[in-house]
Amino acid sequence: MRISIASDHGGFHQKQALARHLESMGHTVLDRGCDSEDSVDYPDYAEIVGEDVAVKEAERGILVCGTGIGMAIAANKIRGVRAANVTSVEFAQLAREHNDANVLTLSGRFVPLTTNTDIVEAFLTTPFAGDRHDRRVKKIQSLEQ
Ligand code: RB5
Repeated sequence: MRISIASDHGGFHQKQALARHLESMGHTVLDRGCDSEDSVDYPDYAEIVGEDVAVKEAERGILVCGTGIGMAIAANKIRGVRAANVTSVEFAQLAREHNDANVLTLSGRFVPLTTNTDIVEAFLTTPFAGDRHDRRVKKIQSLEQ
């Protein structure tokens, strides 16, 4: 899968590790920064990854900041993005099954890397359930018009 990934300083170390993990799993990774622990502004990175997903440069996006919250708020401003801030594997599965989430936002400060690695795996492998959820996602899309 082609995956766009980015972080701010709060998610930098986990982003680096997750990008390496994804590459080792055979995915194509577009690493959109940041490149150090120096302080940056998370909306700048949410915009880049969100646009990658919106224009289909990437099939999925992953964003890591301190909590994942700011990244989700920012990414969801981009038309076509359905970003979910996820802190458990079960929520990752539900974000895919029910919401067809195409961007995952993670906490680099409050959730351990081992858990986030499992969350990413669930996010990439769980299919959208469709059916009644499809109707609801279409209603989300209509809010963007
Ligand atoms: C940066 O200090 C922090 O605000 C950011 O990483 C994130 O947690 C925002 O939601």
